[in-house]
Amino acid sequence: MKFPWTRLRELGIVGMNQRNAEFIMPYNERRYYPLVDNKIITKQRAIEKQIPVPELFGHIELEHQIAYLPSILEPHSEFVIKPTNGSGGNGIMVIAGKTASGYFRKSNDSLVHMDEIKHHVSNILSGMYSLGGETDSAIIEYRVKFDPCFENISYKGVPDIRMIVFRGIPLFAMVRLPTRQSDGRANLHQGAVGVGIDLCTGLTNQGVMQSRPVKDHPDTGFTLTQIQIPQWDFILEMAASCYELAPLGYLGVDLVLDRDRGPMMLELNARPGLAIQIANRQGLGPILKYTQALGTIPVSAKRRVKVGKEIRQKFAKEPS
Ligand SMILES: Nc1ncnc2c1ncn2[C@@H]1O[C@H](COP(=O)(O)OP(=O)(O)O)[C@@H](O)[C@H]1O
Ligand SMILES: [Mg+2]
Repeated sequence: MKFPWTRLRELGIVGMNQRNAEFIMPYNERRYYPLVDNKIITKQRAIEKQIPVPELFGHIELEHQIAYLPSILEPHSEFVIKPTNGSGGNGIMVIAGKTASGYFRKSNDSLVHMDEIKHHVSNILSGMYSLGGETDSAIIEYRVKFDPCFENISYKGVPDIRMIVFRGIPLFAMVRLPTRQSDGRANLHQGAVGVGIDLCTGLTNQGVMQSRPVKDHPDTGFTLTQIQIPQWDFILEMAASCYELAPLGYLGVDLVLDRDRGPMMLELNARPGLAIQIANRQGLGPILKYTQALGTIPVSAKRRVKVGKEIRQKFAKEPS
């Protein structure tokens, strides 16, 4: 069963046109887009602002540098290769190990040879996965290992927490869980499950997969609800401080929880998708409108988190 869209509209669900006209155009200045569209720039700025990010192992910008791949990868048995200007999980290769015979193991357990990795990097450089199809560069970074809280509800990949941060205030959150179909990536368009998170408590509620409501993870069978995301207030504060590294009023922040290194910022989005409303069974409309009308916004990220929680309490959903 799909969601009853007519009722969702009554709930204040924001559509693409409204999002673009009322929130992205007025709040996101185009000149700041490169700060978030380019994952190397985002990473560098995050490091300057002391926001933890996955460590960069290598950056390949030109075809002839592909020859250096074996020496870049030599010290690492696990890593992720991704296009610097990619989106939607496209072109991301997650390598989870090496075999004795010299093959690399992807998160879905299939094996790849160094030549295929080189070929993949060459495709990234040609712009196959980049925004607008322009030539790109390839990032090789630390593979995040998910927090034990996701043990039962993630299928071979790292869940990420997507947060909508409006005027620097975190307002909406969901966790996206990789599935068999999404091949190690937590992007909804790749087949991941989105699960709403109560912004005030960090507890998960219901899920959505390809616009259909789901209660259990499709591959593990475990329930998706009432899971406590650890270090929730710290995660909220990290999301709020991302506004200081890219002054975009309407921002999608992607965070991951590493079992050893804790919460990390994965990437930022200037045009975050709208499925977060479906995952939370609540529309962004009334909450964004209210936040839009606020006079002054606190300078400190901690205070902005407090404001975000107060707003969500004010607009608490009727129990369904
Ligand atoms: N360093 C990493 N370690 C483990 N998984 C990762 C890593 N980087 C990306 N992924 C997986 O791929 C997904 C998409 O990555 P992201 O950097 O957000 O790129 P995109 O812009 O394509 O969404 C993440 O949600 C995560 O599941
Ligand atoms: Mg992403």
